[in-house]
Amino acid sequence: MDRDFEIIVYGATGFTGRLVAEHLLKIYGATGDLKWAIAGRNPAKLDEVRSEIGAPANFPLVIADSSDPASLTAMARRSKAIITTAGPYQVHGSGLVAACAAEGTDYLDISGESNWIHDMLVHEVLARNSGARIVFCCGFDSIPFDLGVYFLQSEAQARLGSPVARVRGRLRRLERGIGGGQSGGSLATGMAIMAAMRASPQILSVLADPFALTPGFKGPEQPDGSKAYEDAVTGSWVVPFMMAAIDTKVVHRSNFLLGHPWGKDFRYDEMSMADGPNGSGVGAPGFYMVKGNPPKPGEGPSRAEREGGCYDILFIGEAADGRIIRANVRGDMDPGAGSTSRMLGESAVCLVRDISRSETPGGIWTSASAMGDALIRRLAANAGVTFQLEP
Ligand SMILES: NC(=O)c1ccc[n+]([C@@H]2O[C@H](COP(=O)([O-])OP(=O)(O)OC[C@H]3O[C@@H](n4cnc5c(N)ncnc54)[C@H](OP(=O)(O)O)[C@@H]3O)[C@@H](O)[C@H]2O)c1
Repeated sequence: MDRDFEIIVYGATGFTGRLVAEHLLKIYGATGDLKWAIAGRNPAKLDEVRSEIGAPANFPLVIADSSDPASLTAMARRSKAIITTAGPYQVHGSGLVAACAAEGTDYLDISGESNWIHDMLVHEVLARNSGARIVFCCGFDSIPFDLGVYFLQSEAQARLGSPVARVRGRLRRLERGIGGGQSGGSLATGMAIMAAMRASPQILSVLADPFALTPGFKGPEQPDGSKAYEDAVTGSWVVPFMMAAIDTKVVHRSNFLLGHPWGKDFRYDEMSMADGPNGSGVGAPGFYMVKGNPPKPGEGPSRAEREGGCYDILFIGEAADGRIIRANVRGDMDPGAGSTSRMLGESAVCLVRDISRSETPGGIWTSASAMGDALIRRLAANAGVTFQLEP
């Protein structure tokens, strides 16, 4: 594939896109082996970002506007892969998915907007034909959960002789850093989903269906994650977890795309452990506040706040004969900004560098089904995210 770049970071003028660019610069350099560029709609703002992150003055900038399909196609033709953080995706994102699917360009985002992802599955055939690997949800939702289940199941296969049909994901600790929380773009996305629900109430059935992303397949009834209860398996009270709605859909899609190695009767739920360590912060995510106001697009937690964050997710697998296997996934920065941006950057490098098209051909994938073990290794090496078995 003869292209100018291996990766373009689109949305680099936004809060998360800029963090992705900073990460790639730190790990791979501006003029090193990895050929990459930053992109957005505003040349002056991009120029400013380039100098603020410390990239050289001749570091490549690519201009494309989501409202101009020709500019998206031109951008897609220049790179092997495009990372996009230009969200809300249901407002700004559809044209780029279409352009990448048509041009055979790998695509990675941090959407988590299941109603929109459901609509984007329409590009599956185009992506298969062009060779484009489309991977949504490469941020906190849903990589730690999707790969966490994948990791646990691989260990179950090795240690128990087969994968397990029941897995519980339990958020054990969540620190967002001092005053940390979500960025302005995440708040805008929450509002975009609410607006979409008001305009089309029928999308509620998509949002509520754990099998919304497995067309033609519906598994068994899943555990009810909508109420708090005392969980004998974890020895803790557990409460509903906000990201479960998207993560469970992604996990079921991984099982579906891999050919149901975890069984067609696989059951999975995600809850927050309410009895975590003091200050474990597992309640509803807060929003980073700028002088008492909600964050605007482009705003988010500071470096110190991001570095003050961390998370710890416990996965418990239960075999049919009652044997239990446990694993954890831990991140060393706040989930929504610091950890998300590094996971997204490393996912793109993994897809273009580690995963051939004979291994993962064109189509609409998940992180676990497209990259699996290779991504686990990259995240541990460069993104501060670890996967471990525990007693
Ligand atoms: N899954 C996760 O874990 C996770 C975590 C964090 C964020 N997110 C999601 O990531 C997205 C970005 O969040 P953020 O806080 O980084 O948002 P942000 O700071 O508002 O950045 C949005 C970016 O989109 C660009 N954009 C907007 N309209 C555009 C258009 N018409 N053409 C081209 N670019 C356009 C903006 O460009 P300008 O600078 O020119 O306006 C900016 O670069 C949101 O959808 C958010 O929900 C997901």
